[in-house]
Amino acid sequence: MGGGIAQVVAASGRRVSLVDAEPGAVERGLETMRKSLTRLAEKGGPPADEVLARVERVDELVPADLMIEAVVEDAEVKEDVFRRADRTLAAEAILASNTSSIPITSLAGVTQRPDRVIGMHFFNPVPVLELVEVVRGRETSDETADGIIELARELGKTPAVANDFPGFVSNRILMPYINEAVYALQDGVADVDAIDTIAKLGFAHPLGPLALADLIGLDTCVAIMKVLQNGLGDDKYAPAPLLETYVEQGKLGRKSGEGFYIY
Ligand code: CAA
Repeated sequence: MGGGIAQVVAASGRRVSLVDAEPGAVERGLETMRKSLTRLAEKGGPPADEVLARVERVDELVPADLMIEAVVEDAEVKEDVFRRADRTLAAEAILASNTSSIPITSLAGVTQRPDRVIGMHFFNPVPVLELVEVVRGRETSDETADGIIELARELGKTPAVANDFPGFVSNRILMPYINEAVYALQDGVADVDAIDTIAKLGFAHPLGPLALADLIGLDTCVAIMKVLQNGLGDDKYAPAPLLETYVEQGKLGRKSGEGFYIY
C-alpha cells in the first residue's frame, strides 16, 4: 500500500521519499507504481516518468512535513517507526499511520507530539479507491485533523472521519463479513466460487469476500481480527480456524501467489 500512497501523493505534485526496512520492497513498490501510472496515463493522467521523478528512494527516514507509515500491521513495529520518526521529523511535522486497526492513541503515546499523530487509512488499490478513513486519536488536534482532511481532498480522495476504536469503522464491518464467508466455506455451505458469486451478484460488490481477503492479505486479515477480538474484548471477532490454517501454510493471498484462489 505504501507504493500506492506514494503514487497518489506524488501525482498531486508533492515530493515523496520512500523508505522500507525490507530489501527490495521499495523497488517492488516503484514497479507497481509504474504499471498503475502507465494505465492512468492512457486515460489522460500525467506521464508516469513525470510523477516518478518526484519520488526518491532513501535508506533512512528523512525530514519531511508529513510521514505516512504503511508498515506491517504489528503494533511494536509501528511504534518503533513512530519513535524514530519523532526523533527525525521537525516538531511541527505530522505523523500519520495507514493502519487499519491499531489504536492511533497508542502510536501517539510513543511520541512527544500526540496532537500531531493521526490515522490516514487508504484502501486497496490506493490509486483507484476514493476513500480515506481519517482516524482521530484521543489527543489529535483539530488543526492536524483539518490538515489531513484537506490533504485527502487534494489527493482526489473523499475523507470520512472516525474515532479511535479497534478496527475503526471500515474493518469493524468488513472483517466480520470476510470471516463469516470463511466459516461458510469451512462448514461446507458452498465452495469458494459460489460464495463469491453470491456476494458479487447478490450485493453488487466488485469482489466477493474471499477474493477481497486475498487482495488484502490473509495474514493481514488475521492480524486485524485479533486486534478486534482483543481490543473489543469479544471472541465473536476471532479469526475462523480455516483462515488461520491458510496463513500457517503460507497461503497469504495475492502477494504469495495463493490464497482462496491461485494467482
Ligand atoms: N492502478 C490504476 N488503475 C487501476 C488499478 C491500479 N492499481 N487497478 C484497477 N485499475 C483500473 C483499471 O484500469 C480499470 O479502469 P477502466 O475502468 O478505465 O478500464 C478499472 O480500474 C477497473 O479495473 P479492472 O477492469 O481491472 O477490474 P475490476 O473492475 O474488477 O476493478 C478493482 C478492479 C478496482 C480492484 C475492483 O475489483 C474493486 O474495487 N475491488 C474491491 C476493492 C476493495 O474492496 N478494496 C478494499 C480493500 S479493504 C482495504 O484496503 C483496507 C483494509 O483496511 C483492509
